[in-house]
Amino acid sequence: MKIQTILCALLMLQGAAASAGPIEDQIKFRQSAYSFIGWNTNKIKTQLDNPDTLSKEEIVAAANAIAAAANSGLGALYGPGTDKGEGWKKTRLKSEFFEKPEEAKKAALQFNLEANEFAKVAATGDVGQIKAKFGKLTQSCKSCHDSFREKDVK
Ligand code: HEC
Repeated sequence: MKIQTILCALLMLQGAAASAGPIEDQIKFRQSAYSFIGWNTNKIKTQLDNPDTLSKEEIVAAANAIAAAANSGLGALYGPGTDKGEGWKKTRLKSEFFEKPEEAKKAALQFNLEANEFAKVAATGDVGQIKAKFGKLTQSCKSCHDSFREKDVK
């Protein structure tokens, strides 16, 4: 192999690694993203649990935040090796995520779909529909957690 070819291959490898970031950064961003998503999900739950003081604006803001996070390309934070290691704390991603790529992809896509659907329904202000779709959204969180997140730190 010519030296230029080797250098070029090395640069490409470096490029690929840089775009996803070091493992600890991927885990950090992932944990941050889900904490943010969880915060917004709790805000919606609080609103729906208190119909007398319910703020549709707060639901819309939280729904848009969740959809934005879902659409931000979270897949980039699931690079190889990120089932082991530490971000803000030890990761809870199960190795099954990499062993069952089809199932993992399905769970991620389902969440994406529900997050975007929920943002649309939140904008209509129809509380009955919002409740129904919120159930679907949180079901998509749960099904991914059940399959791919450790209950406690390993
Ligand atoms: C595609 C799978 C997947 C989906 C969908 C998903 N999560 Fe998670 N979630 C994870 C994984 C994996 C972790 C552990 C991340 C880590 O430690 O590296 C996690 C962690 C969390 C955490 C803990 C964050 C921390 O580190 O303290 C919260 C809160 C959370 N998710 C809430 C949610 C909510 C709410 C939804 C839905 C609106 C959701 N997640 C959807 C996979 C998912």
